[in-house]
Amino acid sequence: MDRILIRGGNRLQGRIFISGAKNAALTLMPCALLTDEPLTLRNLPRLADVDSFGHLLNQLGASTAIEGSRPEDFGRVMTIRAGRLTSTEAPYDIVRKMRASILVLGPLIGRAGEATVSLPGGCAIGNRPIDLHLKAMEAMGAEIELAAGYVKAVAPGGRLPGGRVSFPVVSVGATENALMAAVTARGGTVIENAAREPEIVDLCNCLVAMGASISGIGTETLEIEGRDRLHGATYAVMPDRIEAGSYACAAAITGGSVELAGAEANDMRATIAALVEAGVSVEEGKGSIKVSADGPLRPITLSTAPFPGFATDMQAQFMAMLCKADGASVLTETIFENRYMHVPELARMGADITVTGRSAVVRGVAGLVGAQVMATDLRASMSLIIAGLAAEGETQVSRVYHLDRGYERLEEKLSAVGADIERIGDG
Ligand code: UD1
Repeated sequence: MDRILIRGGNRLQGRIFISGAKNAALTLMPCALLTDEPLTLRNLPRLADVDSFGHLLNQLGASTAIEGSRPEDFGRVMTIRAGRLTSTEAPYDIVRKMRASILVLGPLIGRAGEATVSLPGGCAIGNRPIDLHLKAMEAMGAEIELAAGYVKAVAPGGRLPGGRVSFPVVSVGATENALMAAVTARGGTVIENAAREPEIVDLCNCLVAMGASISGIGTETLEIEGRDRLHGATYAVMPDRIEAGSYACAAAITGGSVELAGAEANDMRATIAALVEAGVSVEEGKGSIKVSADGPLRPITLSTAPFPGFATDMQAQFMAMLCKADGASVLTETIFENRYMHVPELARMGADITVTGRSAVVRGVAGLVGAQVMATDLRASMSLIIAGLAAEGETQVSRVYHLDRGYERLEEKLSAVGADIERIGDG
């Protein structure tokens, strides 16, 4: 298995191009199941999860054609055509590897009136059940059956009536599934306490481009008028706010100055506010954000929350950055119950972190030291890269497949701004 080798200590300087958002791509791709016409997605990131989702769509009978597949191309264009579905089942083998596979549930019911999806099982960052997805389908009129590790959802008479979905907790994925099922329901649907993440707005805008009727976009109440059919469209995936935030932390921990080209500041206000509070200077330009750190980093207090709050997907990267702050920071994780797996690895690099329940106290240290580390999820792996960039000596991060799921050409982007980083094979 590949590893990433970093020799820390270089100050990052220059420009990094931000790719299309992984989490937006993974909810835009299944929209293609809602129509027999082609859906063309632009600015699709080159990521393992995007490829896996493409394979899942192929298994359901959709064709996927990619342009711009030369290694040097950023922003691939994928045309997905689901002329006829040949299956309505998302099998265990795929769902187990990629939880986002659950996002075919809504569109399959919407298009075919039924869907069979494997229960995702355990996940590294917590329990992550799908009860909210199923309750939403039920509220819109689906009949749900659970058997042999699979969920089967059926729309009586082949089409959901629609209904009132009221989420007890905010869920990004369940809101996405509810939206994709509602747009072709027979009647109207109201989604209350909907997630407001920018990726949900991106999904709504794509569905509207396909002929859906949605009002309240970007608010916690979405009203959908079901349409008899949707049509094809061409849509560009939004920039990845988590990738941008990750490179901001990387620049800051090295005392560097990096322009994040293509990043959208309005999608990452909480991240920007936290960077500024930590003493990082953030300049917003047109279609880019410049992040510079020249003094010592300041400790901060942060708590993760649904958008517009501070993203749980940024917690690990901030934790790494704050290891070099001048004092003690307090981070609280409120979304996932087991999202501190990077802590023991950071400790091996000299970090001083104490976790009590859902909170972590990060006491800044004078220096981090390179070590062999590995992490069990995507953002945790990125926190180790960030720490490695500032550590003295060599850091080896293994289980690179986590990073490949969510960071397009990580080594290339970081080398281009001065990092000493390379991928090495195990051979
Ligand atoms: C999405 C993102 C992930 C991000 C998360 C929170 C994708 C592919 N993934 O994940 O990167 O960290 O949003 O911003 O977009 N929950 C339930 N029952 C459910 C569904 C969720 O109890 O049926 C709980 C979860 O365990 C968690 C909370 O709700 O505690 C929020 O999870 P959710 O917003 O659904 O996250 P995902 O959509 O899985």
